[in-house]
Order: sequence, then C-alpha cells, then structure tokens
Amino acid sequence: MNRLAGKVALITGTGVGMGRAAALLFAAEGATVVGCDLNPETSAETVRLVRDAGGMMTSKAPVDLSSYEATQLWVDEAAATHGGIDVLYNNASLPVVGPWDELTVEGWHTGIRNELDLVFYACKVAWPHLVARGGGSIINVASIASIRGAAFFQQAAHGAAKGGVLSFTYHLAAAGGPHRIRANAIMPGLIRTPSTEFLFSSPDAPGSMLATANPLGRVGTADDVAKLAAFLASDDAWYINAAAIPVDGGQSVIE
Ligand SMILES: NC(=O)c1ccc[n+]([C@@H]2O[C@H](COP(=O)([O-])OP(=O)(O)OC[C@H]3O[C@@H](n4cnc5c(N)ncnc54)[C@H](O)[C@@H]3O)[C@@H](O)[C@H]2O)c1
Repeated sequence: MNRLAGKVALITGTGVGMGRAAALLFAAEGATVVGCDLNPETSAETVRLVRDAGGMMTSKAPVDLSSYEATQLWVDEAAATHGGIDVLYNNASLPVVGPWDELTVEGWHTGIRNELDLVFYACKVAWPHLVARGGGSIINVASIASIRGAAFFQQAAHGAAKGGVLSFTYHLAAAGGPHRIRANAIMPGLIRTPSTEFLFSSPDAPGSMLATANPLGRVGTADDVAKLAAFLASDDAWYINAAAIPVDGGQSVIE
C-alpha cells in the first residue's frame, strides 16, 4: 500500500464503474485524487466513499470532457490547487455502439468526440504540467476492441475511437520519453459496470455467455482494471512505457 503517496492523480469519469474503482484504489494507495464527471450526484458519491475510507479526493462536476475549454479549466485548476500533477488517467468515455452501417455521420462524430477527442484534450492540457513536474504517468483506457472486431455486440465506432486512443498512446510515449512522461494503454475486455449491465440481463445474454466462455470463467470487474491502473501510475512501473495491456482473462487470444 501507499505506492502512490505524494502523487496528484487526475482521473476522468469518476462517477461510476472503473473510474470510481480507480478513485478508491488510488486514494487507498496514498494519492491525492482529483476526479471529474458529467454527473454531479455520482461524482459526489465517489468523493464521499473515498473520504469515508480515509482517502483524499476532490471532484468537479459537471465537467464535459468533450469540451476542450472545460477540460482545460479542470486540469489547470487541479494543478494550481495541488502545485502540479503526476498522473492523468483517461478513463471516461461515452461510446456510440451498434451496427456500423446504421450509424449516421453525426453518430460517428459523436462517438469519436466522446471517446477519442476527449483523450487528446486532456493530454494536451495536462502535458505542460507533467513536463514542469519533471515527468509523470499517462494512462489511457483503450479496449480489446482497439485491436479486433467484436461479433457478440457490434461496436465499430467505439472500436475505431479506441484504436485511435491506442495509437495516440504510442505517440505520446515517444514524445514523452525525454520528459520522463510515460504513456500506457489499458485494454479491458468485457467488464461488468453500469454501462454494460444490459449485456447480463439473462443467462443467454451476450455478457453472460462471454463470462461462461472466458478462460477464467468470469468477465472482468472494475477492480481488475483499477489494480493495473494503480500499478501503471506508480513508480513500480517506471520502465513500463508504450505498453498496451489487456485485462480480459486471456479471452482475446485463447479460443
Ligand atoms: N465496461 C467495459 O466492458 C469496457 C470494455 C472496454 C473498455 N471500456 C472503457 O473503460 C472505460 C470505463 O468504462 P466503464 O464501463 O467504467 O464506463 P461507465 O459508462 O460505467 O462510466 C464512465 C463514466 O465516465 C463519465 N463520462 C462519460 N463521458 C464523459 C464526459 N464527456 N465528460 C465527463 N465524464 C464523462 C460517465 O458519466 C461515467 O461516470 C471507458 O473508457 C470505456 O470505454 C469499458
């Protein structure tokens, strides 16, 4: 424990799911967590949970990260309040899913804006703060859908956006080396969170079937992802850079 003591960690989308799990774990590891979310109620609830557990966290909501100006304000305020930042964990996204040939042009752009543009915005505004700090860790949530198609549930716009997140991460890592800024991507498989709950509505639903087929016999949890994120944020991961790490029980490569 305390692997993140003294670090200021910005986490996006801390209202529910993996963002909430990460806020709880990062704070338990000693980080000062700065969250944000679209939803003020869930955002405040996460802060309460973290503080009840003895952790340090503030959060701002509503913040719409698909707005460059709103993102800049959130990041600059956090850096000014805490004297800098050490970690940016780009967790938030609002996917557009469904058959690609039913997607409208507007729907496509909405998906890219809410899954890829927001990662670019947060990295762009956090970068000067990380450079000024002498280094740090950027963790971007991509997806197994970044690297392969999904038949169980069509999600081409989501996959394309997450493919962009993955590729962007590699380029960030290349640019960040001289500044001691590491950039890594997490690629979750199916993780049971509020946004995927509808996939578990019955034993025959796609999520339930995937759980049965998984080499480890279940789908992932938000905590499974948070544990990897906490490692990547820590100095234990000092030589881990430009990695894209699946959290999927091995499902994506084991038939
Ligand atoms: N759940 C899965 O199976 C799965 C699989 C692969 C990748 N992912 C990715 O993991 C990350 C977390 O997923 P989750 O299931 O916990 O998601 P979730 O939908 O349960 O939670 C996302 C949180 O981000 C917030 N958010 C969304 N857009 C925002 C915006 N524009 N500005 C501010 N806040 C915003 C939401 O309000 C919500 O609190 C996402 O990037 C998602 O695409 C999820």
